[in-house]
Amino acid sequence: MALKITVIGTGYLGATHAAAMAELGFDVLGLDVVPEKIEMLRRGEVPMYEPGLEDLLRKHVAGIEGSTGRLGFTTDYAEAAAFGDIHFVCVNTPQKQGEYACDMSYVDAAFAALAPHLTGPALVVGKSTVPVGSAARLAAYLAAHAPAGADAELAWNPEFLREGFAVQDTLHPDRIVVGVRGERAEKLLREVYATPLADGAPFVVTDFPTAELVKTAANSFLATKISFINAMAEVCEAADGDVLKLAEAIGYDDRIGAKFLRAGVGFGGGCLPKDIRAFMARAGELGADQALTFLREIDSINMRRRGQMVEMAREAVGGSFLGKRVAVLGAAFKPDSDDVRDSPALNVAGQIHLQGAQVTVYDPKGMTNARRLFPTLGYADSATEAVRGAHAVLHLTEWREFRELDPAVLGEAATTRLVLDGRNALDPERWRRAGWTYRAMGRPTA
Ligand code: UGA
Repeated sequence: MALKITVIGTGYLGATHAAAMAELGFDVLGLDVVPEKIEMLRRGEVPMYEPGLEDLLRKHVAGIEGSTGRLGFTTDYAEAAAFGDIHFVCVNTPQKQGEYACDMSYVDAAFAALAPHLTGPALVVGKSTVPVGSAARLAAYLAAHAPAGADAELAWNPEFLREGFAVQDTLHPDRIVVGVRGERAEKLLREVYATPLADGAPFVVTDFPTAELVKTAANSFLATKISFINAMAEVCEAADGDVLKLAEAIGYDDRIGAKFLRAGVGFGGGCLPKDIRAFMARAGELGADQALTFLREIDSINMRRRGQMVEMAREAVGGSFLGKRVAVLGAAFKPDSDDVRDSPALNVAGQIHLQGAQVTVYDPKGMTNARRLFPTLGYADSATEAVRGAHAVLHLTEWREFRELDPAVLGEAATTRLVLDGRNALDPERWRRAGWTYRAMGRPTA
């Protein structure tokens, strides 16, 4: 009989995973404790902007005309437990308030709610990013609290999807990593991922701690790569070098690789910043803190870029923001997302606002979330409106829409034709030809 799957937690990870599992042919039940989210999903609406996700969802959500009907939603753990052979736990693990450590309360709550209903054989698969050691603890919890006892097994299967590419990354993963303790769990997961495995996705089978560590190691490496190139940008700024050329040149060495070497205002979002901090905190608990002290430096290089952007802008407008209008293009932490969590763009906008400038922000998708987080900033309905009357334009999230702007048209709206490219993504020549002073991070000013 075909496997039935539940997905617990319907945020970025869970909603995408649920839709992808339905696309792979399984009957899927998504669960969330927030009834409004479930209502939206049942209507085929996605609570966030993620390219392609709404279409995939509508293709499968039961009750939507023409759908396969393979995907349903509930808020009821008893129903989920009765439905599924495999339960994927996809709830989020944010940074704890005032601490580096990761907040496990949503994961723990999900296990506590599910376990008492597991009366028969079941595989619970953790996907959330957790501190190493959590899987072993949660396996013991399941064995103790599920009526099925040892038949309620655990596996850990970290997720590597990127926002903006979530659907593609989930359907065509570049690797599948599973931490298991027995053959049954491995066999079931091979069945779940049969399609991507047949397409050639590598399948890495390991123990619990390694599976948990793979995820935090991968994100730490990515953060390190970005901070490395941003450190080079700092040196380029001091030495009058060009970090873009530098990145291109070192990127041709395939041991280094060209990806994730884009210098600018640095990394943000709901993953990289909190993951490196939680990793440091966990290593400290394990007595291995020395091994990860370098991540502290990665974090500070990254945070310094935001301050550097503010400084560049302040100098460029004549030394003080008082009485100045600043347009900020971008609010999301990266393009093709409406996610503003720990967004460098909003952080910079907020700092400049606090220094007395009148800041107007525009983002193609992130406006609602940005307004909620920073209600005191000004917001405009288009890039041109944001730029109207501005003494400086800051490009802080590299949406395609911003690269396609006509600098000549924008120049008509601005008070001063001064653009600071915090993502090194605009074409300097185009902007300069239209009479703009173009400045970027880690590049010569000439
Ligand atoms: C990241 C990882 O890339 C995923 O593999 C992982 O699954 C995910 O976290 C997670 O843990 O869930 P994501 O947060 O969607 O994915 O974003 P990234 O594409 O990694 O970008 C992170 C930040 O780095 C963005 O603010 C981006 O603008 C910035 N960045 C990226 C740079 O500043 N320079 C670069 O060269 C690349």
